[in-house]
Amino acid sequence: MSGLKVLALCGSLRAKSTNKALVEYAIAHAPKGMQIELADLTDVPFYNSDIATKPVAVEQLLAQCAQADAFLLACPEYNYSIAPALKNALDWASREPNNALMAGKVAAIMGSGGGMGTSRAQYHLRQVCVFLDLHLVNKPEVFCNAFANTFDADNTLTDERIQSLIVQQLDALQQLALRFKN
Ligand SMILES: Cc1cc2nc3c(=O)[nH]c(=O)nc-3n(C[C@H](O)[C@H](O)[C@H](O)COP(=O)(O)O)c2cc1C
Repeated sequence: MSGLKVLALCGSLRAKSTNKALVEYAIAHAPKGMQIELADLTDVPFYNSDIATKPVAVEQLLAQCAQADAFLLACPEYNYSIAPALKNALDWASREPNNALMAGKVAAIMGSGGGMGTSRAQYHLRQVCVFLDLHLVNKPEVFCNAFANTFDADNTLTDERIQSLIVQQLDALQQLALRFKN
């Protein structure tokens, strides 16, 4: 398949985010025909229906969602659940008429955190994705322990098992997109 546009949404906003590092690895190792872009969620405010004029950061996020064929969701685990920046981005996107920015698109989830590899948060996120009508890659799951010499001092992903899982997951995302095309 050629020209699959993937928008990555990362639930951690910090500069040295290990979840962002997973996305950066994915960007650098995307299969032929897939382009991955990371959304900047730094200035996206909490969703509030009283906000009459959408801030620039929100407009930009929604435009990127509209252009995306697929999503890559980098899911940190905060207190056993989804980090608010990621959920908030999905909440904004979901409020467009008929959920048109997300419905029927494909997505993959990866995450970096403690020993459970964000699995608890990822399974909450899977539930959210049911309502968003996203079609998720089931396998492989990318559960990354951030505290096991997984990243080097420059915050680059060095764990070969996780590297391989990411490559396999991107391939699965591409295959899934192909199945859902038309
Ligand atoms: C508010 C908060 C809650 C957290 N709760 C969990 C948790 O439930 N499970 C877990 O594995 N890690 C938890 N952590 C640790 C994060 O996994 C860790 O900070 C991780 O590096 C965050 O991802 P990042 O590197 O992309 O910022 C928590 C961190 C914060 C700030």
